[in-house]
Amino acid sequence: MSTEFDVTPERRASLLHYFYRQFFVAAPQVSPRDVDLSGKTAIVTGASVGLGLEAARQLLDLGCKVIIAVRDQSRGERARREITEGRDISPDMAEVWKLDLASYDSVTRFAERARGLEHLDIAILNAGLYKAAETFGPTGYEEGVQVNYLSNVLLALLLAPIIRAKKTGGAGPGHIALVSSDQAAWARFEERGARPVLAAFKQPMPRWDSGERYGTTKLLAQLFVAELARRVPAADVAVSLPNPGFCRGSDLGRETSGLFWLAYRVQCSVLARTCAVGARTFVAAATTLRAAAHGQYVEDGKVQPMAPFVYTPEGQRVAKQLYEETLDELAFAGVRDIIDGLSQSK
Ligand SMILES: NC(=O)c1ccc[n+]([C@@H]2O[C@H](COP(=O)([O-])OP(=O)(O)OC[C@H]3O[C@@H](n4cnc5c(N)ncnc54)[C@H](OP(=O)(O)O)[C@@H]3O)[C@@H](O)[C@H]2O)c1
Repeated sequence: MSTEFDVTPERRASLLHYFYRQFFVAAPQVSPRDVDLSGKTAIVTGASVGLGLEAARQLLDLGCKVIIAVRDQSRGERARREITEGRDISPDMAEVWKLDLASYDSVTRFAERARGLEHLDIAILNAGLYKAAETFGPTGYEEGVQVNYLSNVLLALLLAPIIRAKKTGGAGPGHIALVSSDQAAWARFEERGARPVLAAFKQPMPRWDSGERYGTTKLLAQLFVAELARRVPAADVAVSLPNPGFCRGSDLGRETSGLFWLAYRVQCSVLARTCAVGARTFVAAATTLRAAAHGQYVEDGKVQPMAPFVYTPEGQRVAKQLYEETLDELAFAGVRDIIDGLSQSK
């Protein structure tokens, strides 16, 4: 958290800076000249479409074996065909595995299966939702919070020791990228004063605001990762928060309708970059930045400040509270022991 940035958190969070980035900045593509991932294995969640599909394609371009983690097997198979077509590679270079982040059982089963891999070097935890309407899942949490935050954190913590044990040789840590968003910096996070804070996401919002909730789910992940990185060194596994920027061609706006749909479409045509450009930042975080991205937000291929709230005294207090509550919520999976294990260098 003591990293020096070339922009303040407030300036980075401004609309002017956002427009500047959308129009004039893009992450450079990591090419096979820069990085050779032959012999390595990556998991990409939500790789059926959009940014996850593009990230999986780019990792395959670098010689990496890719596990396409999807909730719908047939959409996963379609994605696998799309990214492998025309390549002279062995069929096991791209596999489709089932994962539904709405269910803790599915997450733990997925991690159990990952334990059987020969190698695991990278996990791009990209799967996420933009909920147009408020719905609550079987755990009682609002679905966006469940999928974008709680289940992604569980998956990251379950995969971390597997990556630590199974990353291929060579310098540098394995990598877990928890995909973030510009909208984290714009969230008002009105639940921040609640104690306990997580329980607030089991209650209906006083007035449902889809953008606010989506941004808050991504802000929760920033707060958690900032705390985690204080306790876990980057020696074996680095955890980053890459933001692709606003991208067109994905299904993220699938639930929007009416005027929201129209506004989303107009913004897509005026402002957005392609998913192929957005996904470059995930790949850069996991391959060229690696340890430098540990506990950091990555944007357009470089480390940038998280949401301004993260650096405030209140943000740091809420981060500690959220961290403890999240570990309590996920205690059934032994996450405190996992973190203790990760804190001790091998
Ligand atoms: N697009 C943008 O402008 C933008 C900007 C900033 C950040 N992001 C973030 O980037 C990530 C990818 O977004 P995208 O734009 O590519 O959206 P997308 O096209 O809607 O892709 C989301 C992926 O997540 C999967 N997913 C959703 N709920 C899931 C669940 N319960 N379990 C497992 N997988 C689930 C979807 O699977 P199905 O195919 O089965 O629906 C899909 O593969 C998200 O985390 C999003 O928040 C996007």
